[in-house]
Formats: sequence, structure tokens, C-alpha cells
Amino acid sequence: MDDYKLLIDLHKQGYRQGPGGDAETEQALNLAMVDRAAPLKVADIGCGTGASTFLLARLLNARITAVDFLQDFLDVLEERAEGMGLADRISTLACSMENLPFADEELNIIWTEGAIYNIGFEKGVADWRRYLKAGGLLVASEITWITESRPPELQKHWDSEYPEIDVASAKIRVLEKHGYSPVGYFVLPEHCWLDQYYRPMQARFEDFLNRNGNSEEARAIVAAEQREIELYERYKDHVGYGVYVAKKFG
Ligand SMILES: C[S@@+](CC[C@H](N)C(=O)[O-])C[C@H]1O[C@@H](n2cnc3c(N)ncnc32)[C@H](O)[C@@H]1O
Repeated sequence: MDDYKLLIDLHKQGYRQGPGGDAETEQALNLAMVDRAAPLKVADIGCGTGASTFLLARLLNARITAVDFLQDFLDVLEERAEGMGLADRISTLACSMENLPFADEELNIIWTEGAIYNIGFEKGVADWRRYLKAGGLLVASEITWITESRPPELQKHWDSEYPEIDVASAKIRVLEKHGYSPVGYFVLPEHCWLDQYYRPMQARFEDFLNRNGNSEEARAIVAAEQREIELYERYKDHVGYGVYVAKKFG
């Protein structure tokens, strides 16, 4: 995991490692119409340091498996869960999302915020379906075009970064194609990007560079994050995170 050393160093102190917010996690839960009293088995895939895991643990009567392939993030998650008094409801699993150990129909809910792109939305939706019980829920946030046409600079960037980016209707179609009934969709508001994710990360840049001797590699990481932030600020009317809630049928 040496390739990730600097990225871990920049991100593990953050409360979240991608755009999101507690109110929006709860909004998705409301859209999903989850029975909060029912005993549930939940997996939070690509959980990072656990922002969504903690909220789900607080709001649900659930056993949550927090999955990430970076043990450093899971170590932080465990420490924070302990501090919040939530540790008894959460177990961590260091594992690739491409090779999950769950049994067929083991889970009531698969939750994944800003992470399914690592396997690809369609592959994740298709491969993970078998872990859900009939009527189980998939809740996934995914980078999404929120307008039908886009400025060429933005289109070019995302075509090279993540060619699977698409409009919400296409993502919903993917869910239908793979045996889910779409239940709800909304777009994360701007504060989920700027106030909850980008601004706190920018505030960590200086210490991060100092800790890492202002190395070329560390500066390259900061420059890349800064470019992404500028791109979002310029084009936030065209691109966002869609939150998709869908129920497994059959
Ligand atoms: C953008 S972050 C989002 C983290 C968290 N869900 C949040 O919203 O704060 C993506 C997460 O996916 C994890 N990840 C990336 N590729 C993965 C893989 N193949 N298997 C498991 N986790 C992975 C990363 O370590 C990271 O924690």
C-alpha cells in the first residue's frame, strides 16, 4: 500500500474522504423508508474513516460491517467509533470491494458513498446484488451529470477520469437492468462538496506538505486536489453526486 501512503496521510484526518453530509445520509435513509427499529445487517462499502457508518449506527438497529481496502482508514474508524460509543454495532473488514466475503442474501442494506466508482457503478450494482436479501436496499452515491450537455473542458476531464459518468436517467436504467426497483434519487447539495469535504481538506494542505518535507510527490497530490476543486467550483451546475436508492426485487 506504499502507493497510497501520501493519500492516506492527507485524507485520514478528515471526517470524510468524499462529498457527503450527515443530513444527506439521513435523507437517503428516509427515501429508502427503512424500518429503524428492525434488526438489520448492513455493509458500508468503501467506508473510509466511517462518516456514513457512524450515522447509520446511530439511526438504525443494525450490525454494520464497514469495508475498505485501506487498513489505516479502518484503524481511524475504529478509534472514532470507540470514542462515540458506537463500537459494539460496527465491525471493520479490510477487503477489496471486488472480492467481498458476504454470503448470498446475507445483507438487508448495502450502503456506499462516493466509492462504487472504484469498481464501476454497473459492475458494483450487478456483482453486489446477490449479497442482498429479496427486498434489500442498495444506496449508492455516484458522480453524475446533472445537465444534458456539458462544457468541453469538463466533459474531457471526466471522460478520461471516469468514462462511466452519466446522467441520472442512465444510472437508474442500469439499476433496472440489473434487477432493482429504483426508489429515489437526489443530488447532493453544494455544501456537501465545499463545506464538508473540500474546505477541510484545503485546511490540511499546509501541515501535510510540512510533514512530508514539501516533496515533489506531496506537492503533486495537493496540485491535483486543487485542480479538482477548481473544476468543481467552475462547473458545479453541470456535475454533482447523485444519491441512488434502489430495492432488490426477485
Ligand atoms: C472517495 S472515498 C469515500 C469514503 C467514504 N465513503 C466517505 O464518503 O467519506 C473512497 C473510499 O473507497 C476506498 N476504496 C477504493 N478502492 C477500493 C476497493 N477496491 N475496495 C475497497 N475499498 C476501496 C478508499 O480507500 C476510500 O476510503
